[in-house]
Amino acid sequence: MRTAAGVTGVAGVAGVAGEAGVAGAPMERRRFVGLCGRAVTFATGAAGAVLSWSSCASVAVRPVTPTSGRVRLSLADYPELAAPDGSVMIRPTGWDDPIYVLALGDRRFTALSPICTHRGCTVEIQGARLECPCHGSVYDREGAVLHGPAERALSRFRTQVTSDGMLVIDLRVVDGAAR
Ligand code: FES
Repeated sequence: MRTAAGVTGVAGVAGVAGEAGVAGAPMERRRFVGLCGRAVTFATGAAGAVLSWSSCASVAVRPVTPTSGRVRLSLADYPELAAPDGSVMIRPTGWDDPIYVLALGDRRFTALSPICTHRGCTVEIQGARLECPCHGSVYDREGAVLHGPAERALSRFRTQVTSDGMLVIDLRVVDGAAR
């Protein structure tokens, strides 16, 4: 399975201990993601086309099928992205982790890996910020670090808006570098 985090090499960090588990007990990234995954099952059942990850962040997760390494989203189908602070989560076929798609206003968007670059927990969208529940790193909506301990920006996929209203996310290009 591919992961968004695999882009930066953080993806394989299963077993790295965090500090903010239940009642302060350590929680590793894979377990944290697993808890979110179970919340999806409870919320929708197996047949849901649009899944809720509400226990992890109050945004929908939508399965998408890439073509030639790119995901194409019709902006008309994603009214959430019309608002300057709108967000959606998508999960490309075969990927473990979702990708966060965030509106920036003026028809600008970012597509970010949700995997914290500190130790691999899943960050949560909190308005203008993305916050990591494990050790408190904070990123802006373009993935830049606002507050450590993370030192590197979130992995960001190249995006383009076409004249016919499609948001194209290139899964092969991260932070300007080909994968
Ligand atoms: S994993 Fe440590 S701050 Fe995110």
